[in-house]
Amino acid sequence: MHTNSYSTVEDLSLEEQASLGSGAGFWNTVAVGATKSFILTDGPHGVRKQIASDDHLGIAPSMPATCFPPAAALAQSWDVDLLESVGIALGQEAKERNVGVLLGPGVNIKRDPRCGRNFEYFSEDPMLSGALGAAWVTGLQSEGVGASVKHFAANNAETDRMRASSDVDPRTLREIYLRSFQRVVEEAKPWTVMCSYNRVNGVYASEDRWLLTSVLRDEWDFDGVVVSDWGAVKDRVAAVRAGLDLEMPGGTETDALVVRAVENGTLESSVVAVAANRVALLSARVERGRRVTTQVDPEDHHHLARDAAAKSVVLLKNDQQLLPLAPAGRIAVVGEFAKYPRFQGGGSSRINPTKVDIPLEEIRALAGDATVTYARGFTTDGTGDDGALRDDAVLTAADSDVTILFLGLGDGQESEGFDRDTIDLPADQLALVAAIVAVQSRVVVVLSHGGVVILADIANAVPAILDGSLLGQAGGGAIADILFGEVNPSARLSETVPVRLQDAPAYLNFPGENSHIIYGEGLHVGYRWYDAREIPVTYPFGHGLSYTTFDYSDLELSSRAEGVEATVRITNTGDVAGREVVQFYSAMPGSAKVRPPRELKGFAVVDLDPGEDSVVTVTLRSKDLQYWETRIDGWRVEAGDYEVSAGSSSRDLRQSATVTVASSGPTVPLTEDSTMGEIMSNPAAAAIVMGALQGSSEGSETAATELGLDVARMMESYPINRLGFFAGEAGRPALMKLLQIVNG
Ligand code: BGC
Repeated sequence: MHTNSYSTVEDLSLEEQASLGSGAGFWNTVAVGATKSFILTDGPHGVRKQIASDDHLGIAPSMPATCFPPAAALAQSWDVDLLESVGIALGQEAKERNVGVLLGPGVNIKRDPRCGRNFEYFSEDPMLSGALGAAWVTGLQSEGVGASVKHFAANNAETDRMRASSDVDPRTLREIYLRSFQRVVEEAKPWTVMCSYNRVNGVYASEDRWLLTSVLRDEWDFDGVVVSDWGAVKDRVAAVRAGLDLEMPGGTETDALVVRAVENGTLESSVVAVAANRVALLSARVERGRRVTTQVDPEDHHHLARDAAAKSVVLLKNDQQLLPLAPAGRIAVVGEFAKYPRFQGGGSSRINPTKVDIPLEEIRALAGDATVTYARGFTTDGTGDDGALRDDAVLTAADSDVTILFLGLGDGQESEGFDRDTIDLPADQLALVAAIVAVQSRVVVVLSHGGVVILADIANAVPAILDGSLLGQAGGGAIADILFGEVNPSARLSETVPVRLQDAPAYLNFPGENSHIIYGEGLHVGYRWYDAREIPVTYPFGHGLSYTTFDYSDLELSSRAEGVEATVRITNTGDVAGREVVQFYSAMPGSAKVRPPRELKGFAVVDLDPGEDSVVTVTLRSKDLQYWETRIDGWRVEAGDYEVSAGSSSRDLRQSATVTVASSGPTVPLTEDSTMGEIMSNPAAAAIVMGALQGSSEGSETAATELGLDVARMMESYPINRLGFFAGEAGRPALMKLLQIVNG
């Protein structure tokens, strides 16, 4: 149990201590005694400091701030240094606006492409989400502003989000849904963690002592404040008991409940004091943070936002090297998003940008001598005449040498607060694609969307596709930079693009019914699922092209205490400078556990000039090689041969090698009920059993060592206490001795 000294609040009355545990207003805490009030506000990809009225749905206006690319795009950079820089910039803007805690990042796993909030999350992969989240938090907090890692935990759908229970088995919960949080907490020490609205296996996250105290504090050593999502607390007393420190927005009514519970003996006063002390310590951290002074130049941050956006655009397809475009000839630009870009998602994270780059204008600025024409093509709000808009766009495209076609989802089609029913692009846009490719073969599609969209038909119909996800306020410039080769694309998908929604792992279990969501696909989330079932996908996890090419050679592995060190040589074999995202996946073909065919365990980015090569070294950390062993409720590394592949995507593995790794972590004790298979996989136990079997079979016709393979296989699932020599009362002493020797 964590009993921080509560010297800073011990002079306060119970009422005052309780008041520290809830907000004074929508976005700030109370000031009591020496503890000053501070502001918490959204987050994550900009600072949303509201003016005049308050709400947590992004409705009321807020001060202008740089709108960086939301997590879905930023993750596509796979660039921890970039994430750290964005974190630093956010910290500077937060401080300038007197914000002590910025509510982000969101490190929930993209379990299903329909989740309305996927644009705010990094990836379907926990290792990638955790590494990126940790870098973001490190950057932010280096400026003296606290992060709030959210939404803890297993909040992977918006439907019924304030009641639904995410019903997840323990191994999946640990390896997939908690792992990203664990990494951020252990590596970046966030000042706060935000508990989610939903229930986890039936218990509200805000009231889950196992989650908020046993796992978060006792196991991961979290030393900050657990803050509720806005309005997530149903029962303040139960929440405080579970380890929740700060209810937001909260208020004096729930403070009174806490006081009453202490007075009537149902809540210990020390629990209230410990929570109050944590809030007081956070306030002191914020005060210390104010001393780090910075001056923000909005133009500098806009440039960073453009750099970040350019590093986040994935080149999905580029047949006959249609891209980059020459700044000459006749360029047609089609699609509403070229003039009215969609660059962020809806809800609590909606930022009021300092300015917005318009793609059409940015294209014109880089188009040199080219003539640039424009047609709207469609509307996202349903107004306008579809047919007339389409006909006009077709004429514009026909009268061009190349057509840049902006497609995507409008604000009304995805947002925080609800999930999508379909992941198709709107029908009028699909009809527009068909009409344009009938008159123009040189088409570059540029996509704006928060959640994954089905691309199978488009990928067949057009030669080039750029996937911008949602790129923030400078996305327009970034797209132009990529189109004209000012920047060589290097981003990679952080989420699989399936051929059909029906192929998705949670297709039949999303969003659940009667407020229960069964995580039936278990560990097999995202590419883990598509790979295990050998399901074709339109674009795999980790996919992304470049205007150059890279060669992989000399993969070498060595097993060390901290993990497997992998080195691989990367050579830029093309004729322009480029950046490669090198991905390392591990597999364990002979594993005794349920395992996906491959899992991301490391990655690095490398910048190379034409012809240049470099050796990339990455440690696949033991922590990431561990699996959750439910029989001992603990992490273990399974001993054996691991196959490690280095590649350019999860389905473009260029080099593979095998390394033997020793086991680590507590061993699973053998019991009277252990099977022969389990016994024989323990070398010490196997030797004793073989000796005993040989002894008992002396003189019999078939020696144990001569048993047929089929019999040996059958014996594998035989509990040892039901096996001749060890069975019944007679066998018990020998069995006990065996267990004592092997279990120590
Ligand atoms: C969202 C949080 C957000 C909070 C405050 C909630 O509705 O789930 O992510 O930080 O509001 O706006």
